[in-house]
Amino acid sequence: MDLKSKIDLKKLPKHIAVIMDGNGRWAKQKGKIRIFGHQNGVKAVREVTEAAAELGVNYLTLYAFSTENWGRPAEEVNALMTLLVGTIRKEIKTLMKNKIRLQAIGNLKELPPKAYKELLEGIEKTKDNDRMTLVLALNYSARWEITEAVKQIATAAKSGVVDPENITANTISQALTTNGIPDPELMIRTSGETRISNFLLWQIAYAELYFTPVLWPDFRKDNLYEAIISFQNRERRFGKTSDQLVKG
Ligand code: FPP
Repeated sequence: MDLKSKIDLKKLPKHIAVIMDGNGRWAKQKGKIRIFGHQNGVKAVREVTEAAAELGVNYLTLYAFSTENWGRPAEEVNALMTLLVGTIRKEIKTLMKNKIRLQAIGNLKELPPKAYKELLEGIEKTKDNDRMTLVLALNYSARWEITEAVKQIATAAKSGVVDPENITANTISQALTTNGIPDPELMIRTSGETRISNFLLWQIAYAELYFTPVLWPDFRKDNLYEAIISFQNRERRFGKTSDQLVKG
């Protein structure tokens, strides 16, 4: 039986988040420069997006550029931004054809103007697509996002719009850049690293974590299917006991 047919389509994770890691190592193994790895990472982005949409996943979030990535050599940062702009431009047609809506989270205004403009255009053009939402995390970090949310809530409290007594987990969720997006149920990290690296820290409270040694440019549809099958074989208890879950 092929991997895809082992997936229970009624129990799909509604939102999958991916930390795409290992592009640099993949390139190094081949004796090439790091950007070659990123260029080949785009193939994996395409495959995973297509596979997730075909299955019926509602949201796919990809960690494409973290606030910490600015610390990389300028040459690599520039190449990544150029790749991003070029990829969005090239893939819009495919997104339209497949009815995929593009969204982005992160400190977008601080992106280079060209990347920001291309991104906004892509978001605008695809805004009515309803098959799946592809969320790109760009210039994103969870601590940045949580800090911004705290500032926003504190300002509202100071001006009397919000009563601190009434602040709930929902107030915080709504102040994050992921407002309106359901929390990821499955988070995948490639390349064998077993860290979260400042990604969606608030939102993954109950997510299942899946780590694979596969380097991102090698990640294909079957690798996504394996992750989903692993997710479906786990018992998600949300703090309850196994017996309680059986009784419903
Ligand atoms: C991590 O690998 C990867 C990134 C920081 C960038 C991911 C970008 C892409 C896959 C290309 C563009 C994406 C889109 C959505 C158009 P790494 O460089 O940290 O690898 P290493 O850990 O082996 O050095």
